[in-house]
Amino acid sequence: MTNPSLDPNPALTAQLVDRLMHLGEITDEPGALTRSFLSPAMHLVNETVGQWMREAGLDVTIDDWGNIIGHFASSNPEAKTLLLGSHLDTVRNAGRYDGPLGVLLALAACEELRRTGSWLPFHVDVIGFSDEEGLRFHSAYLGSKAIAGLISKEDLKLTDAAGVTVAGAVGQGDTLPAPRYAAEELLAYVEAHIEQGPVLETEGYALGVVSAIAAQSRCTCTFTGQAGHAGTTPMTMRQDALAAAAEFITLVEKVGRETAGLVATVGHVEVQPNASNVIAQSVVLSIDLRHEEYSVVASALVLLVQQGTLLAKPRRIGFAIAEVQSHNAVRCSPFVTAVLSRAAAQSQVDVPQLVSGAGHDAVILSRLAPVAMLFVRCRGGLSHHPDEYVEPEDIGLALQALITFIREFA
Ligand code: HGY
Ligand code: MN
Ligand code: MN
Repeated sequence: MTNPSLDPNPALTAQLVDRLMHLGEITDEPGALTRSFLSPAMHLVNETVGQWMREAGLDVTIDDWGNIIGHFASSNPEAKTLLLGSHLDTVRNAGRYDGPLGVLLALAACEELRRTGSWLPFHVDVIGFSDEEGLRFHSAYLGSKAIAGLISKEDLKLTDAAGVTVAGAVGQGDTLPAPRYAAEELLAYVEAHIEQGPVLETEGYALGVVSAIAAQSRCTCTFTGQAGHAGTTPMTMRQDALAAAAEFITLVEKVGRETAGLVATVGHVEVQPNASNVIAQSVVLSIDLRHEEYSVVASALVLLVQQGTLLAKPRRIGFAIAEVQSHNAVRCSPFVTAVLSRAAAQSQVDVPQLVSGAGHDAVILSRLAPVAMLFVRCRGGLSHHPDEYVEPEDIGLALQALITFIREFA
């Protein structure tokens, strides 16, 4: 249901696609696209994007937390600021679009506004956040939380697989970063992002807008048993942490399947000593729960604690759940979303509103400013996967919508 492409500047879209492909080659893991917080690949990506920003006439800053900010100044020094952007970090073995598409769309919009000499009554800051996925420290949003001044002392103590703390990685001691912006100087934060789901494609739309971002809770769960010889320990005398964890993982799936609107995932498992001929001593696993209402997430968590405790007891296994982070559902600004939706309606008959099951830096920025999100169709709704893909034509439509949004917002 989309009109022929209204791409204002196919060359700009082609350049954006080239840049996406180029960033997709910058990785910490040869053979896969993986970029984690403050990694060498993230530094190289910031240098690359910073160069493109400078060529577009933006003033570039890279903060201590690895966020890159391109400042597109209004001629009015007293002006407020519109924030645009997304994240440049990735999950492990990621696709090329989740995050970088939003940063490069925002940059290309500024390039087009500059090229056409559009005067803006506000500054525009294009931000590439440094840690939306939380791959390294298993706690999402470290970059946007630093920008918003929401980093906690507990965040600083999180450790990565090598035992390096967040504070150690950032190198600023135990100082908590101050907010980069005062709320009153901000107009809004708008993020373009792939949908990471099948709705737009199924219903024949290139673009959608987001009504709300789902609530989520991320936890780590620990099972403590007793290592032993796989060959000599009778089955009746075992305290097998991995067998207990396996039973619990199917329980997490069951709670997700049986609770309307809830998604429940165990995506990360660490087994010690992780040897085929040793009964597992301990298992640490992740739990990711999401729902439109936080109360449903909380109830599911309580249920999992109860049932986990019950299954661990007869196995004489220690069981503990720690919540790493939780976020309420975030409602997008109806006003900003309406302006964004009208801009997207230029290229399609109507613009669907979706709830985002995926988290985004907009969750954090919503603590500082009204937020809105533009969703772009992605093939098969596939994401967090190397086959993630967006048609160049849809990128052109998203670019046109973003440019129109900025002009109308002005
Ligand atoms: O996990 C998420 O929701 C996002 O992709 N970080
Ligand atoms: Mn993302
Ligand atoms: Mn993601």
